Amino acid sequence: MDSARRQLYLRRLGLATWRLREDGDVNDIAPEPVSGSSEPLASSVQAAPDPVAESPVADLQAKVVVVQPAVHRVIPTDWGGLRAAVADCTACKLCETRRSTVFGVGSEHAPLMVIGEGPGQEEDARGEPFVGAAGRLLDQMLKTIGRSRTQASDAQAVFIANVVKCRPPGNRDPQVDEVEACRPYLDRQIELVQPKLIVALGRVAAQRLLATDAPLSRLRGKQHFYGANKIPVFVTYHPAYLLRSPGEKAKSWQDLKHIHRQLAELV
Ligand code: URA
Repeated sequence: MDSARRQLYLRRLGLATWRLREDGDVNDIAPEPVSGSSEPLASSVQAAPDPVAESPVADLQAKVVVVQPAVHRVIPTDWGGLRAAVADCTACKLCETRRSTVFGVGSEHAPLMVIGEGPGQEEDARGEPFVGAAGRLLDQMLKTIGRSRTQASDAQAVFIANVVKCRPPGNRDPQVDEVEACRPYLDRQIELVQPKLIVALGRVAAQRLLATDAPLSRLRGKQHFYGANKIPVFVTYHPAYLLRSPGEKAKSWQDLKHIHRQLAELV
């Protein structure tokens, strides 16, 4: 295979290639520029001429998502820009299988932020978090403490978001690289909302927010803090878990009462 074609295959598979500098010093190698452009790989690959379109590599490429390296991303600091960035995101492989991105819902200045794991099938179809069976239970739980996703007034408002904004296929847990790719979006949402209290629903949200791999049993029901501003975080059961284990609802009720009391003190 000639060198130009080999380079094209490697580029199409997302692999960096290396070339000797002009002076031929083997200790002095430099990265091959991508299609002579500073654009992210995604756009340079799409724009490239296609001499191998009929090859097996081209078939493979058609199924491989072109992930935009995180280093190229600028995370907007305003709500409109952030929504648009999430809607267009290709930072991880979940963009390949999603139907919609699921940004979040509720009041942008809510004192309470509730954070789940990631969209399921219904959320993926509708583009809104917690609209399936677990979401209906979450709405009931929030109602017991006088909160609703449709309320704008501080006394009743909540903002609901997820650790990842795209559905993990088959409702599996989000993988580490997916959580990392979505990290700046959730961090920015928290920065914009500036909640007085964050409630983490379940293990994935709790571990992500608290940067720990401790099990849920050690995290639930204790006082934690998120970020430099030390926003209080309370960890409770995920409503999907409560649907599978209704015997735990009594403990969840204790958690809700705690959340209600803590919010009353903080707001
Ligand atoms: N489970 C989650 O963690 N988030 C959703 O949006 C729906 C179900």
